[in-house]
Amino acid sequence: MIVFVTGSDTGVGKTVLATVWVRYLRSQGRRVAGLKPLASGGRADARLLWRAADRVLPLDQVNPWWFRPPLAPAAAARQAGVDLDMSAVARHVQQIAGQFDWVVVEGAGGLLSPLGPGFDNRDLLIALQAVPIVVVPNRLGAVNQSRLVAEALDRPGVPLPWWVFMNPPRPHPATRTHADLLAPYLPAERIHLFPWLGDFPGLLNRGLPRKAETILERLTRSLETQLGRPPDSGKKGR
Ligand SMILES: Nc1ncnc2c1ncn2[C@@H]1O[C@H](COP(=O)(O)OP(=O)(O)OP(=O)(O)O)[C@@H](O)[C@H]1O
Ligand SMILES: [Mg+2]
Repeated sequence: MIVFVTGSDTGVGKTVLATVWVRYLRSQGRRVAGLKPLASGGRADARLLWRAADRVLPLDQVNPWWFRPPLAPAAAARQAGVDLDMSAVARHVQQIAGQFDWVVVEGAGGLLSPLGPGFDNRDLLIALQAVPIVVVPNRLGAVNQSRLVAEALDRPGVPLPWWVFMNPPRPHPATRTHADLLAPYLPAERIHLFPWLGDFPGLLNRGLPRKAETILERLTRSLETQLGRPPDSGKKGR
C-alpha cells in the first residue's frame, strides 16, 4: 500500500512522522520503503528515510529527483532546466510499491505546493491512489489549517485522509480545545496526536518512546483495516 505523508505547510513534521513510521513498520517485520521522490533544498529528508529503512533501496531510488536551491521543487527544477513529468514520478513510486508491503512517500512542502509543471502534491497522491496522511502542527491555528486541507482533499479520487497532529514540546492551551472545534469537520477516530520526540533524529538509533510507538501501531492497524489487509500480513526478512 502507498501512504502519502503531506502537511498543512512545509516544516510541520512530515519527515519526522515518515521516518519513525518506516522504522516502526520495519521493526514489525513489514517490507517497507520510504520515498522522497522529489526534494529541493538538499537531500537530508531522503537520507533519513533511506537510513530508517536500513538502506533497503539505493538513495537514488529513494529520491530520484533532487535540487539544491531551497525553493518549491517546481521552481528549483525550472531553474535547473529539468522538465519534471508527473507520470514518470508516479511510475517510479508504483514500481517500488510492487516490491514492498508498504511504501511511505513524503511529499514536498504543503499539500498544494507545486511539484512540477501543472502538478502538485495533491495531483501526485491522486495519481498514486495513495492514502493521504496529513501532518498539522498542534498549535493555535491548527483548526483553520486542518479545515483548509480537509476541503482541498474533499474531491473525487482522494481516499479519506488520516490526520496526525504534532504536539509541540510544551502544550499550548489552545490544543485542548481542538477536539471539540474539529468534531463537526473531521472524524475524531481519524485524528492521531503525536508526541514531541526530543532528540529526533538521534532516537532512530535507539528506539522510539512507547507513546510514539502506540500511535504508530494504531495508525498502521487503521490503514490495514481500511485497505482490507490483516494486521499480521507483514513478512519478515527484508
Ligand atoms: N514530533 C516531533 N518531535 C521532534 N521534533 C519534531 C517533531 N515534529 C517536528 N519536529 C522538528 O520540526 C522540524 C521540522 O520537521 P520536519 O523536518 O519533519 O518537517 P517537514 O514537514 O518534513 O519539513 P519539509 O517541508 O522541509 O520537508 C525539525 O527540526 C524536526 O526535528
Ligand atoms: Mg521533510
